[in-house]
Amino acid sequence: MSYIYKIHHIPTSDPTLLAFLAGKFAALRLTALSISAAAFSSTFAIESTFTASQWISRLQRPEVHTFIAVAYSPNTKPEQETIDAGDWVGSATLLGPTPKDIYDIPGSGGPEIGGDDIESKWQMYAVYNNPEHRGKGIAKLLIKGAIEYAAKEAGVGRQSRVRIMIHPNNILVKKLYDGLGFVDAGHCTLSEAFLATGDSGLLPADRGASQPEKYDVRLGIIMARVSSFDDLR
Ligand SMILES: CC(C)(COP(=O)(O)OP(=O)(O)OC[C@H]1O[C@@H](n2cnc3c(N)ncnc32)[C@H](O)[C@@H]1OP(=O)(O)O)[C@@H](O)C(=O)NCCC(=O)NCCS
Repeated sequence: MSYIYKIHHIPTSDPTLLAFLAGKFAALRLTALSISAAAFSSTFAIESTFTASQWISRLQRPEVHTFIAVAYSPNTKPEQETIDAGDWVGSATLLGPTPKDIYDIPGSGGPEIGGDDIESKWQMYAVYNNPEHRGKGIAKLLIKGAIEYAAKEAGVGRQSRVRIMIHPNNILVKKLYDGLGFVDAGHCTLSEAFLATGDSGLLPADRGASQPEKYDVRLGIIMARVSSFDDLR
């Protein structure tokens, strides 16, 4: 079956709508964590314990911007292509803008990053598309949506840096980011990946100190793309 696909940015200002959308988001995210477990730092075991109000408050964090790919049947009228309708099939989350002193990962081996006066800094994560909709350019649309949002927020005359961390088990996906102009930007540990996505609270109580072979090995692949609003216009 062919579908119409549309990318939406989850709005967080209407509490009733947000409660409904948070339920849809939780279902999509838990599907991602169960069928594509090897791709992510977080796990189904961690996120399946979140309550409805935790899902809402996670989406409501002011620095979190969540993009959703929605599939509509081909006879859907444009005015019916709203975020609360259709099937939610994919997502990408953008966190930022983050000041340089918090964003920078000393020891990552990546290139020097610019000051906050010349570029705004963003972390993209949780990029996912349901298997039955893969290979149709949906992830590209989600990632471009996030890049464009970051560039727009940075404003005219300022650059935006979007960074992604790739799980070492998921190296083939690099091709997706290569094709969208991302370049290699060093390596990270699992605890750095949790910190970079604003989820240090999901680390174990000892922040991984008792499992250094899991949390402190620098195997994650960092890629980044620097864009300007002018380039994307
Ligand atoms: C990775 C993922 C999001 C791609 O979704 P998708 O909608 O099928 O991607 P697209 O159709 O937009 O593909 C874009 C490009 O990336 C390439 N690509 C996508 N996934 C790839 C993979 N696993 N290995 C190699 N290349 C891949 C495609 O070849 C395509 O390039 P092309 O258009 O030049 O042929 C999807 O496979 C997925 O959800 N995987 C599990 C979760 C995951 O790995 N997320 C990434 C975390 S960093």
